[in-house]
Amino acid sequence: MRKKLVAGNWKMNGSLAGNRKLLDALAPVDGVDIAVCVPYPYLAQAAEKLDGIDLGVQDVSEFTAGAYTGEVSAVMVAEFGCAYAIVGHSERRALFREGEAEIGRKAAAALAQGLVPIVCIGETLAEREAERVVAVIERQLAPVLEILGAEGLATAVLAYEPVWAIGTGRSATVAQVAETHAAIRAWLASHGVASERVKILYGGSVKADNARELFALDDVDGGLIGGASLIAEEFLAICRAAAVAQSCIE
Ligand code: PGA
Repeated sequence: MRKKLVAGNWKMNGSLAGNRKLLDALAPVDGVDIAVCVPYPYLAQAAEKLDGIDLGVQDVSEFTAGAYTGEVSAVMVAEFGCAYAIVGHSERRALFREGEAEIGRKAAAALAQGLVPIVCIGETLAEREAERVVAVIERQLAPVLEILGAEGLATAVLAYEPVWAIGTGRSATVAQVAETHAAIRAWLASHGVASERVKILYGGSVKADNARELFALDDVDGGLIGGASLIAEEFLAICRAAAVAQSCIE
């Protein structure tokens, strides 16, 4: 049985003083795994303050060390006790031109240091309207599978985040999420990946008031939470919704 995971993605937000309040207010919730993915400069602060909640980053270099100005390696973040690294977030794909193979190599770099990569995938609105959702899944996952192999991919976490639902207040509908997550799991299974082991998170305008119905879906193993992860009460309410959904499948 897969345990629900709720991961916060702070994006490029935070300050030492603001983080202190937010981190102090976070606490573990029974029955669910929780992680917060913070900007690199706050790793030490978050590592010191978090108790029973995992630490993550929002990106990681595909390289280990050397002349790569501005990059941060998985080796470095592992030293801070990081458990997760988001890779391939749609903002990095769109704004920083990250390519499919590069994202696969980043996921491999994370895995090599014992971090679980949270590989983000998801279509744009134009792609959804053109009924190309499954084709996009294939385009984004096939290079990752080629680089990680079936066993590597089975140990990763996937996050389905439709680009049009991120930060817009417009979450995908329960039916859209159910259909797409099932399609992702079917794609994994048909490519030799132990799909029943893979956690598939949903991300895109998850809030306390829609989390419960989304997390109740069979193929939804939790959420990747942006804006709502910056508000302790809202984030914890989402974690509690995951715990309720978890208790229903136990
Ligand atoms: P959102 O962001 O929850 O603010 O929509 C999700 C994400 O980008 O991971």
